[in-house]
Parts: sequence; C-alpha cells; structure tokens
Amino acid sequence: MKTYLTGMTPTGSPHIGNFFGMMQQTIALQDEKAKRYFFVSDQHTFTSKRDPEEFRKNQRNVMIDWLALGIDIEKTVFFTQSDVRAHTELAWYLNCITPMGLLERAHAFKDKTAKGMESNVGLFTYPVLMTADILLYDVTTVPVGKDQQQHVEMARDIAQRFNHHYGETFVLPEARILEDVKTIPGLDGAKMSKSYGNTIPIFTDEETLKKKVMSIQTDSIAMGDPIDPDCTVMQFHNLFENPNYDMLVDKCKNGDVGFGDLKKELVGLIWEYFTPARERRIKLEHDETYLRECMMKGAVKANEKAEEVLGRVRDRMGLGKHISPLPILNQK
Ligand code: TRP
Repeated sequence: MKTYLTGMTPTGSPHIGNFFGMMQQTIALQDEKAKRYFFVSDQHTFTSKRDPEEFRKNQRNVMIDWLALGIDIEKTVFFTQSDVRAHTELAWYLNCITPMGLLERAHAFKDKTAKGMESNVGLFTYPVLMTADILLYDVTTVPVGKDQQQHVEMARDIAQRFNHHYGETFVLPEARILEDVKTIPGLDGAKMSKSYGNTIPIFTDEETLKKKVMSIQTDSIAMGDPIDPDCTVMQFHNLFENPNYDMLVDKCKNGDVGFGDLKKELVGLIWEYFTPARERRIKLEHDETYLRECMMKGAVKANEKAEEVLGRVRDRMGLGKHISPLPILNQK
C-alpha cells in the first residue's frame, strides 16, 4: 500500500491561488486507499523567520486552516513537526552522510540566496531536514509541487546512500508532482502569489472580500462595450462554477453587462463557496479542547511510527535502539 506524506510550511493566511493550486488536490488524496501523513513543517520556518509571536500564531492558524478546509484526522495522521523530536535527530545522522556537493546543487538554496536571503547553515541543510521528515514514516510517495521535486529526489539519493552504507533501512520515496491544473490570476491579472501582493484570502470578512474583488484590475470600457469573456473577472466566475456562466459569457460579448455587476456577483459566489469551511474554521478557533485533542492524537501516532524507524536507524549505526522512553510516549 502507498504511504503519502506531505508538509505544509506555515507562512501566513492561505489564498485562493493556494487553494486551487495545491490544497484542494492534497485534501482530495484522502479519498485514495493509502496511508497518509500530513504535517505542519513549522521547524522549517526558522531558516528565515525568528519572531516567536508570529511563529505561534502561524503554527496554530495553519492547523486550523487545513482542518477547516477538510483534513480528516480519522483518515490522515495530522501532526506538527516540532511535536516529533525524531525529525531533528535523524536530520543530524543524515547530515553526516550527505555530501556538500549534493546540497550545493539545490536550486531553492541558490535562488533564495541570489535574492538576498541570509544564507545560514539551516537554510543550506534544509533539504536534509526535509529528507528526515520523509524517511521517518516509510513513505513511498510525496505529493509536491514542481518546485519541491528536486528535494524529494535528494531524499531518495540520501536514503540510498544510507542503505548502501549501513544496510537496508529506508524505504525509497518518490515524488508525485501536483500539476498546476489551473493558473489562478491575481488582482492584477498576473499569477496570484503572496510575493506579488495580489492575493484574495480564503478566510476573511465580507467587507474585505468585497474590497479585494472590486479592486480586480479591468480594462476601462464605456457602457454597452463588450467585455472579453476571458478577462480575469470572468476567469473567476468560471473557477467558482457560476451556474449562470454561459449566460454571462453571452452578456459580455453583447455588451449587456458591466464590470461592476460582474464583480458584485463574484463576491457572493466566492463568499458562498467558502461558507462551510469558514463556519468550520470559526468553530475550531473557539474549541481549544478539540484542537489540543487533534494535536495530541496526531503527535502520538506520528511519534509511534517515527520512533520505530529511528530505532532502526540508531541500531544500524551502532547506537542503542532507543534512549530512555520519551515522555510523549507515556502520555497515551
Ligand atoms: N519544503 C516544503 C515546502 O516548502 C514543505 C515540506 C517540508 C515538505 N518537509 C516536507 C513537503 C516533506 C513534503 C515532504 O512546501
């Protein structure tokens, strides 16, 4: 049976581009017959962010966002990386068999430092922590966007090196590339992306949503002029499956509708589309007991598996299988 694992780095509030890009596909994996681990890769954020308050906020919010959008903890082991100490321990062992040259070839590191990001050792060795994230759960398949493909290939390479040196220990993972099935335009018509500041957030109040939608850039047209049915506003009507879409296309072509009306209708459409998730999110935000229970359940299951694999690793390397039982394992 396949085992999926995917990590979500908490970097702020998710937007519509994230949803139709990766989140929706990731959530849909829950309908497949497979084992699944989804985790919040919070420790990865320290390579570039150091504000403890913001960290806590993002760590909590990303968990609530994913639960609200449809992660089902009965189908998926959903946990937070920093609740499983084995990730950082394994990363050290893997660091020691990873050649410098392998990491020097990482596109992400080169891109980030070229853009002026501080090049600390954590940023350099981040693919090794990611490798540990993957190898700890005997993962066969890692669903990721194209930008992460090289990192999964590195994980496979590092696992092979370890197996070659110490004997069969790790399952070799493969990437499953999640294609950008749809390119989601931002407010300015370019690809929606946090770095362009052109996003529409998923979870927001109606007033903000309205302002955002009203600010979608459009051609200036006179009353009665036709509208391009492929314009950004109409792309959104299509994406959000407006039942009147075909009728609107005709109206656009005939000059029977203006951007103001199209945008107003769009606000209602987006608002309704995310209403169930928004309502779940509001409930979750106020249910500390349930949230803690989710985190605990995930942490216990993840630690169980991670300790099994780490024990295998330690044993191969000549260490004792386990240090004294970890406190977390006694909390069951
Ligand atoms: N690096 C991934 C990202 O930035 C997140 C991530 C961390 C991840 N560890 C992982 C993804 C392990 C898949 C598997 O999106």
